[in-house]
Amino acid sequence: MATNALPREAWNSRLTFILAATGSAVGLGNIWKFPYIAGENGGGAFVLVYLVCILLAGIPVMIAEVFMGKRTRTSPVLAVEKLAAESGQSTRWRWMAIMGVIAGMVILSYYSIVAGWALAYFPKMISGAFVAIDDAGSSALFNEHLSNPWRLLGWHSLFIIMTMAVVITGVTRGLGKAVEYLMPILFVLLLILLGFSISQGEFSHAVKYLFAFDFGSLTMDSVLAALGHAFFTLSIGMGAIMAYGSYMPEDTPIAKTVLTVAALDTCVALIAGLAIFPIVFASPAIEPGEGAGLLFISLPIAFGSMPGGIFFGALFFALVSVAAWTSSISLIEPAVSWAVDKGKATRLKAGIFLGGICWLLGIGSALSFNVYSDPWIFGLFNWFEFSDFLTSYVMLPVGGILMAIFVGHMFGKSALLESMDIEGWLFDAWRFVLRWITPDLIKIIFFLGIINIFL
Ligand code: TRP
Repeated sequence: MATNALPREAWNSRLTFILAATGSAVGLGNIWKFPYIAGENGGGAFVLVYLVCILLAGIPVMIAEVFMGKRTRTSPVLAVEKLAAESGQSTRWRWMAIMGVIAGMVILSYYSIVAGWALAYFPKMISGAFVAIDDAGSSALFNEHLSNPWRLLGWHSLFIIMTMAVVITGVTRGLGKAVEYLMPILFVLLLILLGFSISQGEFSHAVKYLFAFDFGSLTMDSVLAALGHAFFTLSIGMGAIMAYGSYMPEDTPIAKTVLTVAALDTCVALIAGLAIFPIVFASPAIEPGEGAGLLFISLPIAFGSMPGGIFFGALFFALVSVAAWTSSISLIEPAVSWAVDKGKATRLKAGIFLGGICWLLGIGSALSFNVYSDPWIFGLFNWFEFSDFLTSYVMLPVGGILMAIFVGHMFGKSALLESMDIEGWLFDAWRFVLRWITPDLIKIIFFLGIINIFL
């Protein structure tokens, strides 16, 4: 019997969908990536642009994406084909979703390397290696960790196996529970860290850094970074949230749910930033523009000097690993569900094959922190940086433009209203922004940003 004849699994309640979507959105993007790219791009003005992008591009596209999944109840590629047929458009729109499938796999390949750092930091914390450590010592430990490619590959392999294990058994089982219990604990831990940073670190310096908007230092590639990150952090532009939307219970309101998830996601990122930067400014050997190691160098110093730091530190990195885990699943789900819904593969086979490709691509990223760290691609990027550039700066924004145009222009008002929980001016505002602001905003930022990077 073809797999697609089986009844389709569904999230068992509205809460579970919110939890799963939040689990996808809240991840390394919030805790690891946001602080480090905010630091690389000079803080304040970047943060403001990021917030504007969440509002004018992220949320409208996220609503559109959930709409596409919920309305069709199938995997992203088939969903787009179905919607294109329904609205009399060319089936070539499917390339929008196929690009998303590829983007998700490329993101997973390097996401897994960083998730591997978080996994590795759990036993490192327990070992007491960070007790009373100073900033120079913490940097040295992190660099030592990166120096061994085999070690990075080992943790990368473990993380890919963890991800595929869940994806193979089906994402709607089990996942909700992890998010329901563990994410609130992570949130509380972030608040504890924040308390520590307020009392021990340079808190007011950090607040000024993150929220004083100095536009003089803002370049177009920082603006593109902020836009790309708005997509990355909400898990949109590639079909992940569409895939999750296809499992959404009928009576769950789309727009309200999206707003809840986006608000939670943004709060976590800002709190992570406010917890990390006071420590950075109190540590002469760490720069805000430290790069990808910022989280892993700064926080262990805080844990090393707080009472119960071994316990809190180990718990923190365990929970960051779980946050990464609930996100990584959504990165590969569009690919796996496509293979399954097409009826040609079982979840097991699709999972092993597609997970294997991500694992292979990730090798290049593991080597980017040691043997092949030089920027050999266009003279600008190593493999890790290129994977991030290609997805966050190019594929997600382009996916976002296409989704905004597809849903904004190819569907009549009544077709949209039918599936939407908002009406009146709120609905009109969403549709207006999606049609007339989001696509052009992304196009302008995208072209100016790319020109700025390559010229
Ligand atoms: N949003 C996740 C994070 O912030 C990463 C992620 C999961 C993602 N699924 C995605 C990014 C889909 C882009 C597209 O860590």
